[in-house]
Amino acid sequence: MRSKAIITSALPYSNGEIHLGHVASTYLPADVTTRYLKQKNVEVYYICASDDYGTPILIQSEKEKKSPEEYVEYWNKRDHDDFTSFDINFDFFYKTSSVENNEFVQYVFKKLESSGHIYQNDIVQFYCKTDKKFLPDRYVIGTCPYCNADEQYSDLCEKCGRVPEEIGNPHCSICGNTPVKEKTNHYFFKLKNFSDQLLEYLESNNNLQTDVKKYVQNWIKDGLIDWDITRDISWGVPVPVDNVENKVFYGWFDNHLAYISSTIKFLKSIGKDGKDFWNDADIYHFIGKDIIYHHYLFLPAMRLGIDSEYKLPDFIPTRGHLTLQSKKISKSRNWYIGLKDFLQIFPSDYLRFYLVSINPYSQDDLNFDWDEFSTKINSELIGNLGNLVNRALGFTVKTFDGLVPKPEVYDELDIESEKMIKELADKLDELLQKNHLDRALRKILEFSSHFNQYFQHKEPWKKEHGTNSCVFLSVNAVKSIAIAIYPFLPKSSQKIWEQLGLDGNISEKNFEEISNISIKSGHKIGKIEPLFAKVEESIIEEQKSKLGSK
Ligand code: MF3
Ligand code: ZN
Repeated sequence: MRSKAIITSALPYSNGEIHLGHVASTYLPADVTTRYLKQKNVEVYYICASDDYGTPILIQSEKEKKSPEEYVEYWNKRDHDDFTSFDINFDFFYKTSSVENNEFVQYVFKKLESSGHIYQNDIVQFYCKTDKKFLPDRYVIGTCPYCNADEQYSDLCEKCGRVPEEIGNPHCSICGNTPVKEKTNHYFFKLKNFSDQLLEYLESNNNLQTDVKKYVQNWIKDGLIDWDITRDISWGVPVPVDNVENKVFYGWFDNHLAYISSTIKFLKSIGKDGKDFWNDADIYHFIGKDIIYHHYLFLPAMRLGIDSEYKLPDFIPTRGHLTLQSKKISKSRNWYIGLKDFLQIFPSDYLRFYLVSINPYSQDDLNFDWDEFSTKINSELIGNLGNLVNRALGFTVKTFDGLVPKPEVYDELDIESEKMIKELADKLDELLQKNHLDRALRKILEFSSHFNQYFQHKEPWKKEHGTNSCVFLSVNAVKSIAIAIYPFLPKSSQKIWEQLGLDGNISEKNFEEISNISIKSGHKIGKIEPLFAKVEESIIEEQKSKLGSK
């Protein structure tokens, strides 16, 4: 672990609201990791931006009779607000359409070009004379040549799953008219030039997940194809070549460069040199498995192509997709849950708790299930963790006037429990360093469960010998939990901290303090309140019935 780190998560398209599928695989794991690294005293910044360019966004803005600038401005703000209410704590949230990114993208292009990594080629594309646009594959609809299904995309038949070579009866998905074929000149990036260097990078980086690595290596061995990096539209980063007009870069050429350009802009604002910092830091890009190709091949190749002026990623934590009630998320079928809607019903910590707990560090898909959500919150978060906090602190208030008692000589069970406190930080550290956020959360629950049993077993309410030790250690265990759950449940962690009667902001506590027995006898506990409210069955039923209906 380096003493500096930059964390990014896949940039959200400014083209609609954030839903649970987005946050589960990237934003939340990245946020938890950032908070953990801050506890470890790493100088870490979490940088994100809206992904503003591309044909779909241009077309949608036209439909809504807005300029693309206006359109993306709206979503940039809305998405950022939604992330904020989920306690996703970006140090900086910028945009791919910023002046800084435009300039950086053009700089990168020129440098790639002067190193011989760019060439031009004429291609033939569908052009709609009504809309006066070259149509990307997605916008040409027709009959699949293999299975004869109507109304299929020209680059994918959803009926038979094949990629049509030439679609029948093509028509424009915007206006329905038949497009014509026209010749146009595009720029290409010689991805092939980088095959060997990419293999070397994958081979030498031991932080990358091995299964992802394997199939990326196979793609390379099968042969890479060069990338068409330009589009004939007006919304994008202009191609900086004299006499080339109405040609912009393809969204995937410019968007990931905003990881760098936004970082530089942010670091400059706090008086630091972006390039030095970047190259001294651990670089993490959190992504979902649908964009592996772009992040394991395209992105590193472009960085290699500018002589690794900005170093390649150290970590590309890649996770699977979220399904909802075991079905694929689909906005058009209203089979999705908007983040904003969810947070109007439940606290953000409930969702953070649930999503981390079902989300392993792997490409396996994960499933949001309303009943499981309710069970996990009620029995694990409330029944286990909340219960311990309430019990240990409540008992101290009731029996000792809120003053932590002086422990007696420890018996075996006390010694074992003290040892658990002392070992917790190291155990969690080991898991968190390896990105096993779900396992770390489970460890905290096991720890809490141990102390519930300990408390039960010691029966302090009988006020016999050993009561003081039990209360003393249980209160200290609650303090350990408060710090340990901070990366996962920042709001609840602060509440526990205050109920413990401790000052200051929990975000400033060091990770190592998890394992200190730092609450001494005589310390006064704060004001106790229930931390969580139970999830009611009726609300869950109501939510379930909303899915799929309009
Ligand atoms: N907007 C893209 C998506 O949602 C992700 C872009 S990540 C990038 O798939 F940074 F590489 F741009
Ligand atoms: Zn058209």
